[in-house]
Amino acid sequence: MNVNHAVFKLSAFAPEQFIRDGLPQAVFVGRSNVGKSSVINTLTGRKALARVGSAPGKTRSANYFLIDNRLYFVDLPGYGYAKVSKSVTENWGAMMETYFRNRRRLLKVVLLADIRHTPTAQDIQMYEYMRHYGLDGVVAATKADKISKNEQREKIRTIRETLGLSPADRVIPVSALKRSGTEELLAEIDAVLRGGALPEG
Ligand code: GTP
Ligand code: MG
Repeated sequence: MNVNHAVFKLSAFAPEQFIRDGLPQAVFVGRSNVGKSSVINTLTGRKALARVGSAPGKTRSANYFLIDNRLYFVDLPGYGYAKVSKSVTENWGAMMETYFRNRRRLLKVVLLADIRHTPTAQDIQMYEYMRHYGLDGVVAATKADKISKNEQREKIRTIRETLGLSPADRVIPVSALKRSGTEELLAEIDAVLRGGALPEG
């Protein structure tokens, strides 16, 4: 899969604003600061399509980017940022819940985990959630440039064990800095396109 044309579509601040036009969506989820926006920029070959590293935990919208008029990349707000208030956290949870409940088909979930760290309880919960609902997911281990190839192998093993992945589940090391892992990740995302664009209920 190649990305030729990527354009920002809209920011949804409430579930009523979610896009339901039948096009497939690849959604990027993970802890705040893990590198979601950076990965989207890397995959689209754009420097500042998605906003990187502003105030963590501040963006509470789902941001939609239309890719070559055939699918969306969705940049979801990160979870696990300690400094946001309880009401913001609850609102976030409700929003995510609605997003995933209404979107079982034509969805690829890219769960991002910092390659250097053991996945948190929330990462595990997120993965469990994906598994429970039978969502099509892939794990991207971000900031791979920060450690050596040997360390990467070791850390990926830790990620696999912590999330309880089966041998068929893929973990793809990516680096926004080095622009590595993008082809592998795009190939995974491409799978969702093969489902074709069906209208959703
Ligand atoms: P939120 O929107 O707050 O949830 O964060 P995010 O997950 O979108 O992370 P973002 O892309 O904003 O990146 C967070 C920080 O990590 C920024 O300072 C980035 O420059 C840095 N970063 C992201 N990806 C990489 C990477 O591959 N390598 C390195 N070295 N730094 C990275
Ligand atoms: Mg972001």
